[in-house]
Amino acid sequence: MTNLTSVTDPGDLAQLYADAPSGVRANMIFSADGAAAFGGRAGTLSCPADQNLLRDLRAFADVVLVGAGTARAERYGPARFTEAQEALRGAHRGHAPPPIAVVSQSGRLPSTLFVDGTSPPFLVTSASAAQAHSLDSDPRWRLLVAGEDTVDVGAATKQLRALGMQRILCEGGPTLLDQLVDADAVDEICVTIAPLLAGSQPVGLRTPSRQHVPASLELRHALLCDSYLFLRYRRSAN
Ligand SMILES: NC(=O)c1ccc[n+]([C@@H]2O[C@H](COP(=O)([O-])OP(=O)(O)OC[C@H]3O[C@@H](n4cnc5c(N)ncnc54)[C@H](OP(=O)(O)O)[C@@H]3O)[C@@H](O)[C@H]2O)c1
Repeated sequence: MTNLTSVTDPGDLAQLYADAPSGVRANMIFSADGAAAFGGRAGTLSCPADQNLLRDLRAFADVVLVGAGTARAERYGPARFTEAQEALRGAHRGHAPPPIAVVSQSGRLPSTLFVDGTSPPFLVTSASAAQAHSLDSDPRWRLLVAGEDTVDVGAATKQLRALGMQRILCEGGPTLLDQLVDADAVDEICVTIAPLLAGSQPVGLRTPSRQHVPASLELRHALLCDSYLFLRYRRSAN
C-alpha cells in the first residue's frame, strides 16, 4: 500500500522523480473530471508546483518528445534551466538541456523552437511526409524518419534510444500519448490531478485504441501539494 504524502515545499518534489526510467516517461496533467486542457491550453489546469515539476523532469531526461499540436499550442522553445535545475541535472546527467523532438506529419513547427541555433530540434516524421513536404532539406532541424505513411512512434522511440537518448520524456499531447500507449512504449507515467472541473475539452484528432485490454500500472508514489495530486506510475511486470 502506498501512502499519500503531503509536500509543503514544491521544491521538494523534483528529487522524488530523479530516477527516470530508461525508456519513455510521460508527464501529463488532467482536471479532476479528466480534461487534458482548458480553452486549448494545458497551463490553465496547472499550478506553480506543477510548472516547476514540468521543468524539473527535463533535468532527468535525454530528450523531450512532444506532438506538434502541443508544440504549436504551447509555443515550445528549446529547453532552458534555472540554476536549481542545472544543479539537479548536473548531479544526475551533467549535460546541456535535452533537445526537443517534435512528432509531425506536416512539418509545421512553431518559430519559437528555432530562437537559438545551438540546440536544433529533432523533427520526427514519416517517409511519405518527408518526401511530400521536402522536410529533409530544412537545416533548422535534425530529421528522424520512422514509419512509411505516418510516424511509427514505437520505432521513433527506438531510434532516439539508439542515438544514445535513453531517457525520453514525453510531454504529450493526448494524441501522441494515445499512440505511445498503443505501441506499448510507455514505461512510466507521471500524472498531476488538478482540483478543477473543466467539462468537455476536446483536443486533437484522437482515434479509438487498438489495445484488447488496458495495460497495468503500479503506483510508485502519491504526493499532495496545494490540493494537487502528483501520481507516479510505472508499468507493472505482468
Ligand atoms: N494535459 C496535459 O498534460 C497536456 C500535455 C500536452 C498538451 N496538452 C494540450 O493538448 C492539446 C494538444 O494535444 P493534441 O493531442 O491535439 O496534439 P499532440 O499530440 O501534441 O500533437 C498532435 C500532432 O502531432 C503529430 N502527430 C502525432 N502523432 C503522429 C503520427 N503518428 N504521425 C505523424 N504525426 C503525428 C501531428 O502533427 P501535424 O499536425 O504537424 O502533422 C498531430 O496533428 C493542447 O491543447 C495542449 O495544450 C495537454
